[in-house]
Amino acid sequence: MKPRYQAVRGTRDLIGAEAAKLDGIIHSLSRWCARFGYEPIQTPIFEEEALFTRSIGGETDIVHKELYRFEDRKGRKLALRPEGTAGVVRAVVASGVFNQSFCQHHRYYYSGPMFRYDRPQAGRYRQFSQFGVECFGPTGGAPPLAFDDAEQILMVDRWLRESKCSPYALKLNSIGCPECRPAFVAQLQAAWRDHLAELCPDCARRLEANPLRVLDCKSEKCYSRHGEPPSTLATLCAGCREHHDRVTSLLTGSKVAFTEDPRLVRGLDYYTRTTFEFVSGELGAQSAFLGGGRYDNLVEDLGGPATPAIGWAAGLDRLANLVTDPVIIEPGEYATVSWSALLRPPERSVFFIFFSTAAEGALFPAIIDLKLAGVFANWGSPGEPLKKQLARAGKQNYPYAIIIGDDELAAGAAGVRDMRQSTQETVPFAGLVEYLQRKFAARPPES
Ligand code: HAM
Repeated sequence: MKPRYQAVRGTRDLIGAEAAKLDGIIHSLSRWCARFGYEPIQTPIFEEEALFTRSIGGETDIVHKELYRFEDRKGRKLALRPEGTAGVVRAVVASGVFNQSFCQHHRYYYSGPMFRYDRPQAGRYRQFSQFGVECFGPTGGAPPLAFDDAEQILMVDRWLRESKCSPYALKLNSIGCPECRPAFVAQLQAAWRDHLAELCPDCARRLEANPLRVLDCKSEKCYSRHGEPPSTLATLCAGCREHHDRVTSLLTGSKVAFTEDPRLVRGLDYYTRTTFEFVSGELGAQSAFLGGGRYDNLVEDLGGPATPAIGWAAGLDRLANLVTDPVIIEPGEYATVSWSALLRPPERSVFFIFFSTAAEGALFPAIIDLKLAGVFANWGSPGEPLKKQLARAGKQNYPYAIIIGDDELAAGAAGVRDMRQSTQETVPFAGLVEYLQRKFAARPPES
């Protein structure tokens, strides 16, 4: 007998093992991200339509063509969320957390259904699931840290490897900032105005209205799909260039393989500087299973204080085809507790203090190992002098500060300061994780 009702086009049912598979991935990723200091956040599935237009951009396909818009009974203009970032930023700005913190990071992870009215095909649905993370900080107007970009990318790469993911590749780009992007846009317009007739009608309009968007056109016949654009990397200003070089050098130093793809502008307007995508040839046409980037202006655009931010989201429907064995992580001390709500870090935590790019590179592997070993590690703004950073670590109740200045760097060691005893020891980088593990094991719980 033919069933009376079918799932709506572009949606699907996950029953038994299929649903369990997605749950397993979400569970594993949640615990993994908790180790990296991320806390859960849940936001509504529908929001004011204007939130998406403002943040994702009215000229993007996601808003222009794919948004599920509706009016409620009182005539309010609402929309089903097409992605998670806009809602998370709105929620965190509204919570006021940015106004209470200075030189701190706030990190959140989420999962749930997203909705885009796109043409359904294998791996592309109108309702699909994402797991995403957003990292805000340093708060208080400090510049963005390349460290945060590299950590987020490395966090994904390590999880994919530990979860025995099918072969994948990482694409990386920088799309600059409002200061240097106009130079790129001018070059693109100058080069492509000659091809107006070969562009699809949407791109012909967008070349003037929102030129970056011509680079993510989905129409096979459009000139934008095969025309060679100028490189975004060639027009970066000094600040964006330095940031990008730091990100690539941290990734190379931690053996994360990537290729630079100057076409990777991503389909959302909020991005600045770093953009990245994880792709796999095993997925067919819809090869991108995780994408993200930096969005340093969105918090301010949505009414919060200027705060740099970076995030990514994985398409779980796609990821589930690549990962059959998600890594199992024990819940850490802070995996299920919201430590920021307590306004203090967990007991097993350290605050890193460093000042230079060289220190940044030397520290990176130790920080990742520490986090994976269940020690919460955080940092402030390397631009601040030692005294200020130390005072901050003390005020925030970190039991240890790890200091890497020029002398420590030359000696290949870190100064480990016991903040409660006001004592300091020098510990070689290579032994840092073990040393801290021993210290925490011996430490009586604080009364
Ligand atoms: P996005 O690239 O639009 O980024 O989506 C992230 C992932 O969601 C994609 O890589 C893909 O795997 C999956 N996805 C997107 N559309 C569909 C679809 N129609 N069907 C199945 N899977 C799909 C974002 O959404 C950003 N919010 C990511 C981000 C977070 N950037 C900063 N923070």
